[in-house]
Amino acid sequence: RDPPMRSVRRSSEGAVAEVVIVEHPDVGGELVARHIASRVRAQPDFTLGVATGSTPLPVYAALARECAAGLDLSRVVAFALDEYVGLPRQHPESYHSVIQREVTEPLGLDPSLVRVPDGDEATIATAGERYEAELTAHGGVDLQLLGIGTDGHVGFNEPGSSLASLTRIKTLTASTRADNARFFDAPEQVPTHCITQGIGTILRARHLVLLAFGAGKADVIAAAVEGPVTATLPGSCIQLHAHVTVVVDEAAATSFERASYYRWVYEHKPAWQGL
Ligand code: F6R
Repeated sequence: RDPPMRSVRRSSEGAVAEVVIVEHPDVGGELVARHIASRVRAQPDFTLGVATGSTPLPVYAALARECAAGLDLSRVVAFALDEYVGLPRQHPESYHSVIQREVTEPLGLDPSLVRVPDGDEATIATAGERYEAELTAHGGVDLQLLGIGTDGHVGFNEPGSSLASLTRIKTLTASTRADNARFFDAPEQVPTHCITQGIGTILRARHLVLLAFGAGKADVIAAAVEGPVTATLPGSCIQLHAHVTVVVDEAAATSFERASYYRWVYEHKPAWQGL
């Protein structure tokens, strides 16, 4: 029998949740980038959900190497997860700037196909609705890259966010502002508010790829994967999705109860299955 096609697998097999433990973030970046590259070769107008922060950088670096080797991402559509409210777009740490610098330019994306939520204070009341409308009109996201905050947030859905939430303004927690102070000259410069895709929005993406690297993420990623589904830990929402890949390095894998099972599953994964 011929091996099933990827698209057939997703619709017929349905639930695929997998934890992949790699020795180094660069290996995880390459694994995910290779998968994205193969999806884009099959479907040049693939829609990629992009995240900011440190975690996805190895994926973008590996994708840039794929591009240098001939991969064409010029028809890929990208939707960002979030943006600070009130930071001018030209500010180097606005997510408009970060996505342009770390994704659009190095990967050769067409800037007219890259969307970032609008954090302009003057029009923020309608920004969430407008972003949702754009996502829906486009037909949604094929693969959503996600990091996780040390307080459990995905996107900027802080603890207590509704599991059904859509794109909207959120107030950042003190711990997220402290974590992100490294990107600014002084901690008080970190904006207090953001606009973020909601958990309900994120769950509509057809494949979620959640990455976590480093010892500082070990407890939160274990809680997201193995703990209860709860708005108190928004990353646990991945358990409600039928196709999730969690990629962690050894340092972030130390708190899993079922690490040896994840390793065994991955070692015995059928070659046709892909991510
Ligand atoms: C970024 C985002 C956040 C980050 C999270 C982890 O667009 O939505 O959820 O993924 O704060 O940040 P890093 O990767 O810097 O540890």
